[in-house]
Amino acid sequence: MAAPVVDAEYLRQVDRARRQLRALISNKGCAPIMLRLAYVAPSLTAHPDSPRPPLALASACRGEWHDAGTYDVNTKTGGANGSIRFEEEYTHGSNAGLKIAIDLLEPIKAKNPKITYADLYQLAGVVAVEVTGGPTVEFVPGRRDSSVCRREGRLPDAKKGAPHLRDIFYRMGLTDKDIVALSGGHTLGKAHPERSGFEGAWTQEPLKFDNSYFLELLKGETEGLLQLPTDKALLSDPEFRHYVELYAKDEDAFFKDYAESHKKLSELGFTPR
Ligand code: HEM
Repeated sequence: MAAPVVDAEYLRQVDRARRQLRALISNKGCAPIMLRLAYVAPSLTAHPDSPRPPLALASACRGEWHDAGTYDVNTKTGGANGSIRFEEEYTHGSNAGLKIAIDLLEPIKAKNPKITYADLYQLAGVVAVEVTGGPTVEFVPGRRDSSVCRREGRLPDAKKGAPHLRDIFYRMGLTDKDIVALSGGHTLGKAHPERSGFEGAWTQEPLKFDNSYFLELLKGETEGLLQLPTDKALLSDPEFRHYVELYAKDEDAFFKDYAESHKKLSELGFTPR
């Protein structure tokens, strides 16, 4: 689909959507799933880019992913393009649960119809971080919606280690620093056994965006809190560990790096004008 024209009316709707998102996310306490949606949203690339309605019930391909986390720097496919709104993406494996976020955002899309889904999902991620006390992440609108979904999964497997994380994130054009800073997104939310097979929150206050993910990681296993194998990999790899230690002792450094990495993630496959 063509890139949207970001004119004065588009920007007005972005401002309005931002206010509506602040209210929605605070009232429903749904920041974690909104952040995960933004990360998972860019997805599958397989069939021709034909226009399809949002939330189409037809199912033509299968994939797993969050929106931005699907970009491939070599083929320039995937990325923050809103394709997660199609059922074949959001119902798949690790994406289970994201339909809740997609449905919550639908009324905001209806009130601000010019905004693309790809922009709306990324704006929701930015607002989720902001309203839970995290850094301000710059948001530039203009992402086009894709009607293409991807066949193969490109999101990390939580059961794997550092080489796998590098495989996945380097392919998106991201660095070791980005990997560690973005993993700090697990300061929010929790895992649900019926969705991922994992259970529990990473931190004591899963609705507060702070550097406690790194403090908990360095403390070691705590009863009732979760550490995925991919979280633990950040400790065993010296390059990753350097950033874990930095972010645990310096929250400002974490916020600064997180804001940069989140912006990068939210712009994969998109060149702001
Ligand atoms: C949740 C894996 C990176 C944000 C989860 C869950 C898994 C997972 C297994 C639990 C899903 C569920 O059961 O509901 C991973 C792996 C990553 C990664 C292996 C690789 C480093 C990220 C990134 C972000 C992020 C980069 C955002 C910056 C979240 C959030 C939740 C979550 C906020 C909680 C969702 C909720 O409470 O419903 N992740 N993730 N994750 N992830 Fe990640």
